[in-house]
Amino acid sequence: MGEVTGGPGFVTERGSFRAAHVADQNVERQAFVLDQVAGRPAVRALKAWALEQLAPAAGETAVDVGSGMGEDVLAFATYGARAIGVEPSPGLRAEAARRTGRAEAGRRAAGAEAAQCAAGAEATLRAAGAGAALRGAGAEEVRRAPASGAPEGVEFVDGRAERLPFEDASVDVVRCERVLQHVDEPGDAVREIARVLRPGGRVALIDTDWGTSIIHPADPDVLQRIVDYFRGETANPYSGRRLRGLLVDAGLEITGETAATWIEPQDGATTGFVGMMHTTAARAGVITDAEAAAFTKTLGDAAERGVFHMSLTMYAVSARKP
Ligand SMILES: C[S@@+](CC[C@H](N)C(=O)[O-])C[C@H]1O[C@@H](n2cnc3c(N)ncnc32)[C@H](O)[C@@H]1O
Repeated sequence: MGEVTGGPGFVTERGSFRAAHVADQNVERQAFVLDQVAGRPAVRALKAWALEQLAPAAGETAVDVGSGMGEDVLAFATYGARAIGVEPSPGLRAEAARRTGRAEAGRRAAGAEAAQCAAGAEATLRAAGAGAALRGAGAEEVRRAPASGAPEGVEFVDGRAERLPFEDASVDVVRCERVLQHVDEPGDAVREIARVLRPGGRVALIDTDWGTSIIHPADPDVLQRIVDYFRGETANPYSGRRLRGLLVDAGLEITGETAATWIEPQDGATTGFVGMMHTTAARAGVITDAEAAAFTKTLGDAAERGVFHMSLTMYAVSARKP
């Protein structure tokens, strides 16, 4: 089997993204998967949409919940916001801090305009001062930050969506992407986001809905068993369709919504996310090795003819606190 790239936010072959599994996670593997996913057009489109909706003002406190590699935290900082990533995985926090430090250096070196922008953002960040009031264990971590060369104004703190390390009404902007699918009680997480937002504060949620996955061509019975197994392993597989309701139930006012469909390239028929699905399903005994082999052959033959199809839709919803 070739490299497993994983899907838009799903489990990796060796470990999941669930916060409860942080001790077993293979950070290198996760970084590889997140990098692959981050490059896909559907993901780029939704990240850009969310940033446009949230557009933090200089000096505002902007939080990314489940910040992974830290790319979106850095994007907040380029607006002059005090940018904080909340991330339960120590390995991902360390990797994000390392990468954002490197990205900041690259951005300065990229040319006069970028340098000016970075300098302006940093000046604003210094002027922004304390920003959101942090509480609990997260506060200690922020006092130690920035770690590993992360730029001033960019911080990565320990925490979970269900219990955010911020005081009530102390945050201006929150984003949370492809995280709620890994959370058992997403309602608790969105109520937490509503709690920490100040009146007038903005939020954007992005997530996959595994009810939208299509794989073709395949034996329908084998495919159904693979998909059922996969959905059963996900804490909240239909997260995408629930985003709007979670925001409304938390007392927030919807300001926008959009969607983007991930289409797997032909070379992903057997080696990418689809390959990971049937391999893990076979390991779990949901399909036999013979069924897995036939499934792969059907898809591989289709890809050779350029007629393989795999797609999955992701949703984004923005809201404000009244
Ligand atoms: C698929 S990754 C998405 C990362 C990032 N948001 C992005 O867009 O690339 C899911 C992230 O959520 C984090 N996560 C999992 N459970 C969480 C929870 N309960 N609270 C906060 N983050 C969580 C994982 O550690 C991981 O960084």
